[in-house]
Amino acid sequence: MGEPLRDLIETNAANCFSRMPEVKNHDEKSSGSSDGQSKGESGRPSLDSEEHEKRLLKTELFPGSSATFRILEVGCGAGNSVFPILNILQNTPESFLYCCDFAPGALELIKSHSSYRAAQCSAFVHDVCDDGSPYPFPEGILDVVLLVFVLSSIQPDRMQGVVNRLSKLLKPGGMLLFRDYGRYDNTQLRFKKGEVHRMFCKAGLDEKQNLVDHRLQVNRKKQVKMHRVWVQGKFQKPLHWTQNSSKLTFSSPFS
Ligand SMILES: C[S@@+](CC[C@H](N)C(=O)[O-])C[C@H]1O[C@@H](n2cnc3c(N)ncnc32)[C@H](O)[C@@H]1O
Repeated sequence: MGEPLRDLIETNAANCFSRMPEVKNHDEKSSGSSDGQSKGESGRPSLDSEEHEKRLLKTELFPGSSATFRILEVGCGAGNSVFPILNILQNTPESFLYCCDFAPGALELIKSHSSYRAAQCSAFVHDVCDDGSPYPFPEGILDVVLLVFVLSSIQPDRMQGVVNRLSKLLKPGGMLLFRDYGRYDNTQLRFKKGEVHRMFCKAGLDEKQNLVDHRLQVNRKKQVKMHRVWVQGKFQKPLHWTQNSSKLTFSSPFS
């Protein structure tokens, strides 16, 4: 993971933690240019979402069930984000981190790492494209989902299903943090114009940020300059979310 991504994760994690009373908020930094779709920031979870969570916790026991703030990173790889996040979380014992990847070797690396703490982290093998494979926790309980450089590696016709399922895992008010390769990054055509907006809104999430981050990376050793293009977004589950909130008939002016 490069420095900009590390910044993103740490900044986003810190922003998420600002919803917990004992951790101070950090200013968000990005050199990106908005595509004009950014919205305001989320507030604290409402009584509705707290009630929703309490009801779940009364009936179910699962890893992290006693936590009050839960994060899931999907496609975590060998843990480039997992360990910086765990490092931050150690000051907030009531928080819990789930991380998954479909590569068993990656999960083995994470679990055997000296900084892995099973008391605050559950790492498991999971294919986000496999609808039949359950998560080790109920739906509607996550505060944050991290989806960083993963969606672009998924077959385009499966992407919407993946986003829909991740949306269901969020609690009302929860936030999905997205970052990936942008269109024309290294001449690759990844997400089409408006596609990111459409896909996450269709899954019932409200767009809070959706920007294109252009960076010039210089490899001095090889004397190569690379114009990188990343897309980055924050998508929040509405506080009064119902199954019907999924905007399945949504049609975007950007299509
Ligand atoms: C480019 S790496 C990004 C790793 C990490 N998110 C980061 O930013 O450092 C993409 C990761 O997504 C995982 N991945 C790809 N498709 C997946 C799927 N269908 N289910 C779970 N993980 C997947 C890969 O195994 C890989 O570890």
